[in-house]
Formats: sequence, C-alpha cells, structure tokens
Amino acid sequence: MPIDLRPHPLLRAKISALGTFTPPRLLTNADLETMVETSDQWITERTGIRQRHIVDKGVATSDLAVEAARLCLAERGVQPSEVEAIIIATVTPDMLFPSTVCLVQHKLGAQGAWGFDLSAACCGFVYALQVGAKLVESGAHKKVLVIGADVMSSIIDYTDRATCIIFGDGAGAVLLEPAAEGEIGMIDFLHEIDGAGAASLYMPGGGSLHPPTAETVAQKMHYVHQDGQAVYKFAVRKMSEATEKLLERNGVHGKDLDCFIPHQANKRIILSTAERLGLPPERVIINIDRFGNTTAGTIPLAMQTAREENRLRKNDLVLLASVGAGYTVGSCLLRWEI
Ligand code: UT7
Repeated sequence: MPIDLRPHPLLRAKISALGTFTPPRLLTNADLETMVETSDQWITERTGIRQRHIVDKGVATSDLAVEAARLCLAERGVQPSEVEAIIIATVTPDMLFPSTVCLVQHKLGAQGAWGFDLSAACCGFVYALQVGAKLVESGAHKKVLVIGADVMSSIIDYTDRATCIIFGDGAGAVLLEPAAEGEIGMIDFLHEIDGAGAASLYMPGGGSLHPPTAETVAQKMHYVHQDGQAVYKFAVRKMSEATEKLLERNGVHGKDLDCFIPHQANKRIILSTAERLGLPPERVIINIDRFGNTTAGTIPLAMQTAREENRLRKNDLVLLASVGAGYTVGSCLLRWEI
C-alpha cells in the first residue's frame, strides 16, 4: 500500500476526564504547633493553609498517581489498556530510576502506554499538559494521561518551620483526547524558565552533584531548602506577567475568564495575581486551606475543587498559572469541555 503523505488534518486536544487523590491522613496546623515553634494564626495569615494530606510510610508518588489515574479513566469509561501515553510531572519520584511512569503503567495495567517523568516542580502539571496536548494535536496519540503527583512529605524537614508548614501530598490526573467538532479544548500555553533562581528553592542532595552520603544526610541536604521571600517576590511578579502576556496574545481580557485555577503555594500570591487580572473572588479557585502546596498536584486538585463547588462548567474559559522551583513559570488558556 502506498504511504499516505498528505498533511495531517488539524487536530485540537481537550481534557476529557479528571481524577484526583489525596492520602487520608491529615497534618493540621494544630499538629504542627506541637512539632515546631509556630502557630495556627501565623500559618493561616501568612499562607492560607489549615491542613495538608500526608502519606503513611511506604506509600509513594506512584501510588497516589495510580489512584488519581484510575478515577480519571473511570470517569470517562476508558480502560487502562486503551491509554497510549502517560506523562507524570513530579519532583518526588519513587526513585531516581526507573521513572515513576514505568511503575504507574505497570500498577495501572496500561500495557499499551509509553511515557516519561517530567521535572518542573510546581509548573510540572502545566508543562506536562502542553506536551500531552501536542502528542494529541500531532495525531500521534488519541488517549494521553497527564498526571501531576508529589509526595512532598518525603523531602521535607519537619523540624524546619519555614518549609514544613507549606507542603502536602497529592495527585491529579487528566485524560487528553482529540476535541470533537465544535469543541475548542486547549487554546494556548506560555512558559518560561529562569535558572538564576535555582538557589532560591532546591534540594541539594541525592543527585549527581552531591550523591547521598552520611555527611549529606547529616547536613540535611536531602530536604527542601527555600528562600521564601525571594520566591514570593518572583511568584507575585511572574504570575501576573505571564498570564497577562498569555491573555493579551489571545485577545482575552481578565473579565472574559470564567475560572482562574492557579498553583496553590500561598493564598496571598493567588489573590495578588487575581487582583492584577481584575478577577472577582468567585472566579478564583483556592483550596490551599485544605491541601497545602502539593507541588505538581495543586492544579488538578484545584480543578476538582472548582467542579465540586460548581464553579467549573462545560465551555468555561479557564486560565491556569503556576510559578515554582527553577525558577519555572507556566500558564495555559483552555476551554473546559467536560
Ligand atoms: O510552590 C513553590 C513556590 N513557593 C512559594 O511560592 C513560596 C513563596 N513564599 C512564601 O509563601 C512565603 O515567603 C512563606 C510563607 C514561605 C514565608 O512567609 P513570609 O511572610 O515571607 O515570612 P518570612 O520568611 O519573611 O518570615 C517572617 C518571620 C520571620 O521572623 P522574624 O525574622 O521576622 O523574627 C520568620 O522567622 O516569620 C518567621 N517564621 C515563622 N513564624 C511562625 C517563618 N516561618 C514561621 C512559622 N511560624 N512557620
């Protein structure tokens, strides 16, 4: 049979299903008051966080990812064997290799899928969303799972009050499929990285630069280190700059948005971005009070919150935005098609 060299018809990708999972155990501000010198009032006022979900010993990122993926596929009635590719955004892989996606593919029973892990910290989910969307839009695949999953509790020093109050564990998965006729789905992405910020938020130990030794452990190099104020200032500036640029190049104004789903790192960062975009509070999704910062998990978890609160409906124009370690900056404009 002759090879068909005609150009592929233009495809659009859409999110066709969503599933999320957080481990049942809670770590509340009251619990933290017994562990470090802090107070519920300080944590609530400075971050907006009241509790976080934390895994039990032996539960890893792949476990959360699999639960989220199962719920996502069940929502659409898709069998794991039908999934063609899986991308997992995470900075807390089960181990350095094999990739977490291999473990997830096996546990999920998605034998027909290939995939890879993507490392972009808090922007991981939005970056993976673009890569997954392009796999669909290129015609390469029809069913791509994009998962954001992190077990941040595995890399947090619970004697360091500056970081231990912020992070939680959780995962969310979306299924990407070709949009049907008349549907829009994914519209545009705008991402940036700025490696000058690498030393403001990082985990120095455990990689090829500082392989784990008794000394790196004694120096707590296997934990998250953060210059909170530096990251805060960058996040406030960049979240607005990137989203404004993305909206402008698509001819969209803040008032046109139905739903703003930002990364949940600090309630004050979210409110300041929303104000710059001129968004009323009812269009801004905040669930940091219940989940803390779950890194790659925050945006799909916030999508779920938006649906549960009936603030995300089919045809809604949605803006996603995140800033995180790297620095990484990510944003996405889409129409919700579920
Ligand atoms: O998702 C990844 C990206 N990460 C972020 O976006 C995080 C951005 N940064 C932030 O959200 C904030 O900087 C933090 C929540 C991390 C910290 O809030 P802050 O308002 O910037 O506090 P700070 O670091 O300037 O500290 C203010 C004071 C200090 O005391 P002194 O020096 O003024 O006496 C800290 O020692 O608050 C103290 N402090 C605490 N007090 C009670 C720091 N952590 C705590 C704590 N409880 N947990």
